[in-house]
Amino acid sequence: MQRQPIFFLGFGGVGRALLTQILDAREQHRKRNGLKLDVLGIADSAGALVSEKPLGDAALRKALQTKIDTGRLPGPAATRANMRTLIAALPRNAIVVDTSASSATVPALIQAKRRGCGVVLANKIPLAGDLAWWNAIADARARWETTCGSAMPVIATLNTLLDSGDTVHRIEGTLSGTLGYVASQLEAGVKFGDAVRDAKMRGYTEPDPRQDLGGLDVGRKALILARMLGYRLDMQDVKVESLYPKHMDKLSVDDFMRDVDSLNETMAARVAELTADGHKLRYAAVIENGKLKAGFVGADPVSKLGMSRTSDSVVIFHTRFFMDNPLTVSGRGAGQDVTASGVLGDVVSLSRVMGNKLA
Ligand SMILES: NC(=O)c1ccc[n+]([C@@H]2O[C@H](COP(=O)([O-])OP(=O)(O)OC[C@H]3O[C@@H](n4cnc5c(N)ncnc54)[C@H](OP(=O)(O)O)[C@@H]3O)[C@@H](O)[C@H]2O)c1
Repeated sequence: MQRQPIFFLGFGGVGRALLTQILDAREQHRKRNGLKLDVLGIADSAGALVSEKPLGDAALRKALQTKIDTGRLPGPAATRANMRTLIAALPRNAIVVDTSASSATVPALIQAKRRGCGVVLANKIPLAGDLAWWNAIADARARWETTCGSAMPVIATLNTLLDSGDTVHRIEGTLSGTLGYVASQLEAGVKFGDAVRDAKMRGYTEPDPRQDLGGLDVGRKALILARMLGYRLDMQDVKVESLYPKHMDKLSVDDFMRDVDSLNETMAARVAELTADGHKLRYAAVIENGKLKAGFVGADPVSKLGMSRTSDSVVIFHTRFFMDNPLTVSGRGAGQDVTASGVLGDVVSLSRVMGNKLA
């Protein structure tokens, strides 16, 4: 039986779903993979639960319940200083799993990589930040499948294309469920303000919808894919279309939600222009010839982008060998449970190359 030590950075929706899935999959991992995932620690923004020996399943279930009930982990506060100590104490074959949504984990990730550990990220920020971070993190002992389209095999597909010697000419994709929903509403004639309010009311947006409407998240995904293609680019190289003007950043969330109707006319004109001749409105990331953009496009209705369902995420690879019929990955591109399943797939896949000690 292979014992794979793991350490959690982040214990929010995805982190908790991941731990639940690990506990539920014990038998399957034993039978199918001959693997036991040993959780050595869990850190959130305020505290950490750590143990020299693997935490038992009862202690892990208690941690899940305590976090849900109190918002906190059992254990002492994890300061920046003792995070260094925690990482330094990990076995060199450990996997550090980042399901935070913060750049604050970058020092721990880099320290872990230097120590020889593997890393799995659902967190895009370390991979879409400084190129130095990318260089220190993104290698054969790292996995980041869920950073672009949740558990859909977008990263795996791109890696396979690159490994096979294919040439990727263009990648286009709809990589935000929220913006997909807003686009579908606008296309159906709903006013922008109403579409944004509706998306917020349904819980499709962040508490501050500007975090979705600004397009930064899609831009980060485009940058990660472009960096995998070998382009040494930064976020300032990504042309991101924000669906609201910059001066509205100063407003409170309530004021933004009240003033969002002021954008209705401009947005309606833009939608009319893009959807002329039956074109479909999509908020897409496009990577081609080292140029990256994220924004509204009018997609040909018989193209794979135009035919995709707005409730799905879709990523289309136009390559030397997939020219006439581009390779397409589509499906559910968001959700904490499905994302956690993708993270778990990464952990199991990485455990195979970590040179684990046998129990
Ligand atoms: N949800 C999706 O559909 C989806 C899809 C793909 C990728 N992702 C990515 O997955 C990540 C997690 O998403 P989520 O929905 O689980 O977010 P979340 O519920 O906000 O959880 C974030 C967690 O990170 C913790 N955290 C913050 N700073 C930290 C630090 N310095 N060290 C350790 N932990 C820290 C938070 O601590 P506290 O609990 O103390 O606040 C929280 O537990 C995000 O990066 C997101 O972009 C999500």
